[in-house]
Amino acid sequence: MDEHVKRMLDVSFSATMKISQLADDMEAGGKDVISLAVGEPDFDTPEFIIEAAYEAMKQGFTHYTPPKGISELREIVAKKLRTENDLDFDSKNVLITPTKQAIFMSVLAHLDDGAEVILPDPAWVSYGPIVKFADGILRRVPLREEDFSMDEEAMKEAITSRTEMMILNSPCNPTGMTMSKDELNMVRDLAVDNDLKVVTDEVYEKLIFEGEHISLASLDGMRERTITVNGFSKAYAMTGWRIGWLACTEEMLENIAKIQTHSITCATSFAQKAAFTALDEKEKGEKALSYMLEKYRERRDIIIKRLDEIDGFECKKPESTFYTFPRFEYDMESMDMSMYLLREASVATTPGTAFGDGGKKHLRLSFANSKDNIEEAMDRIERAVEKL
Ligand SMILES: Cc1ncc(COP(=O)(O)O)c(C=O)c1O
Repeated sequence: MDEHVKRMLDVSFSATMKISQLADDMEAGGKDVISLAVGEPDFDTPEFIIEAAYEAMKQGFTHYTPPKGISELREIVAKKLRTENDLDFDSKNVLITPTKQAIFMSVLAHLDDGAEVILPDPAWVSYGPIVKFADGILRRVPLREEDFSMDEEAMKEAITSRTEMMILNSPCNPTGMTMSKDELNMVRDLAVDNDLKVVTDEVYEKLIFEGEHISLASLDGMRERTITVNGFSKAYAMTGWRIGWLACTEEMLENIAKIQTHSITCATSFAQKAAFTALDEKEKGEKALSYMLEKYRERRDIIIKRLDEIDGFECKKPESTFYTFPRFEYDMESMDMSMYLLREASVATTPGTAFGDGGKKHLRLSFANSKDNIEEAMDRIERAVEKL
């Protein structure tokens, strides 16, 4: 019966399920598969954060919290936004919720039925389905192939009188690029001129190797129209905790809070305490972060060097995240290349088309994996590609 609900028709689990299913089957059959398809840190959550959750649980902090989140966490997030991101927000502007839920609720609360949403192509896999769940219409705007930057003319062409929102992601999964000040200014002008709301996903903010992160909402005219989303998953290796936040004007936040109240009620109580500690114990947090960042940087340099040596592969050096998005010059599309590498080399990758048509000639390779695994995966890919 459910498959007849109109809103669900256009949304599938994802093209990558086929790859992961096959990878699982191969592993079950005794094959040694290396996965470069994962989208999460390979580190465990730092000990001091785990301790904080354990303490909270032992002290009985296992009940509902206020829907918008516990006050100390909302306050410390607001302080972070003021001091690190130049955003004039206080705790009333912050709602605690898992990052993905934050994006989901932001779109659902601020998009009219049938309204259009500008989304770069390629972009992270879940924005499209979220827009569709909210009965919105997607307008994909190709990024420039040469540097994955946003193309002003293409953006202008995509904006119509029905456009209500843009969804942006910097640092970007899958490209590994961060938006420059010029790009952000261009987006600001378009958003202001066309009176658009913007959801900006900054969940990879802390994983930057070169350059700086600028929060879009800090630019003139953006505070009142932007919902800034961020979370603890990638920075503090806390994907399983399901904890993050969004920040926006109080008016926008009230709408979103209605959805939170009537859906998940609140974020997990002791995960909120742990997240507070991650920010409150700043020195420990930064130490853990810089350790992980250093490891990611070493691995990035290895994977980039190796990819460039593979015939027919070309890869821009990611400035951020733990993803590379190499282009390949073989007469096949990304899904076939991904399947080929899994079967032939026992390396799981994510086909670029999972992120949009702009990924047809790309694969996404995560370097949230050990150096040894990365080297071995590159050896295998190199040998497999030689046979093409
Ligand atoms: C760009 C982007 N945004 C949001 C998320 C979701 O984050 P979380 O797991 O904290 O909900 C991810 C996870 O992969 C992501 O890559």
